Amino acid sequence: MTLCPDINVKSGPRGVGKTVLLAYLASHSRESGWVAANVTSRPGMLEDIIERATDAADELVSSAPSVRITSVNVPVLFGATWEYRDPESGNWRTRMNRLLDRLQERGIGLLITIDEIDPSLDELIDFASTYQHFVRENRRVALFMAGLPASVSALLSDKSASFLRRAAQHQLGRIDDADVRAAFLETVEDAGKAIDEGALAEAVRATDGFAYMMQFVGFRMWAEARGRSRIEPEDARRGAARAREDFISGVVRKTCQELSEGDLAFLGAMLPDGEGPSSVADAASRMGKTANYARVYRSRLMEQGVITTAARGLVRFDMSLLREFLLEE
Ligand SMILES: Nc1ncnc2c1ncn2[C@@H]1O[C@H](COP(=O)(O)OP(=O)(O)OP(=O)(O)O)[C@@H](O)[C@H]1O
Ligand SMILES: [Mg+2]
Repeated sequence: MTLCPDINVKSGPRGVGKTVLLAYLASHSRESGWVAANVTSRPGMLEDIIERATDAADELVSSAPSVRITSVNVPVLFGATWEYRDPESGNWRTRMNRLLDRLQERGIGLLITIDEIDPSLDELIDFASTYQHFVRENRRVALFMAGLPASVSALLSDKSASFLRRAAQHQLGRIDDADVRAAFLETVEDAGKAIDEGALAEAVRATDGFAYMMQFVGFRMWAEARGRSRIEPEDARRGAARAREDFISGVVRKTCQELSEGDLAFLGAMLPDGEGPSSVADAASRMGKTANYARVYRSRLMEQGVITTAARGLVRFDMSLLREFLLEE
């Protein structure tokens, strides 16, 4: 992977794999001589960036002898110095500049990852406006941020964070069935078991392209086949049913709790269409509302990653388990 002074924003619904992806990118940045500061967007985030960056730099420097024998016999670790860690010694930008200078002396770049973007957090807005100075000063910095689609679009439309609009945006979505199948097969075989063709097909069907669901299905199916060397279709069926309960309590309920009554009413008006797409106009008339009114909810739900457009004027549920859950409620 090559890293450049770049800004990337990942968005996607709950459990799609945003956090896992940020961690993966951070772990690979090391190979290219970068250190990563992984933080979550919450109060204290700015100080956390300095702490995480100094820890990561110390780890890199102490594990690479060629880097440390450059100046003195006893290397001064980043974390041992207070010039950038002590808030008394300057504001955040000043302290970051000192740290970035030190990193640059050793040819080390800094990757910052910010998870769970919260557009109402002032520190995040302050961060964005300071970060643009690092970029203008040609410092070796890169930024990856991740959040729910609605949070990302709210952050990008904040006028104090207009700089971030230049970020490359990536929408994380479903994983291809072929990839899910390959991942199950490889994981099972690496662990020394075999899996029946029908069981594999059932596991792929139950996963329905969702990263989080894949973990549940694999875990439950494996547990069902405990003590046997081969996973049978019955194990996959039972595992899938338990995974479905896990996914509903872990992801679907959480998603519903974040929706407004209007959002839920719109989803309710889509239910009569079953698995097929719903027309926004039909949903509006079922709600007894105008098409314009329904379009507001359509946009909101798309930003929350709950529905996607199927064709012009048509929408469908992004998670079929969410649809089934609403039907049952
Ligand atoms: N590429 C992947 N392959 C297999 N499993 C994955 C992948 N990405 C994520 N997962 C699984 O899905 C689960 C959820 O991923 P993650 O926590 O990254 O989602 P998220 O998008 O950050 O969710 P949230 O919005 O709730 O923070 C993880 O525990 C992981 O096991
Ligand atoms: Mg996450």
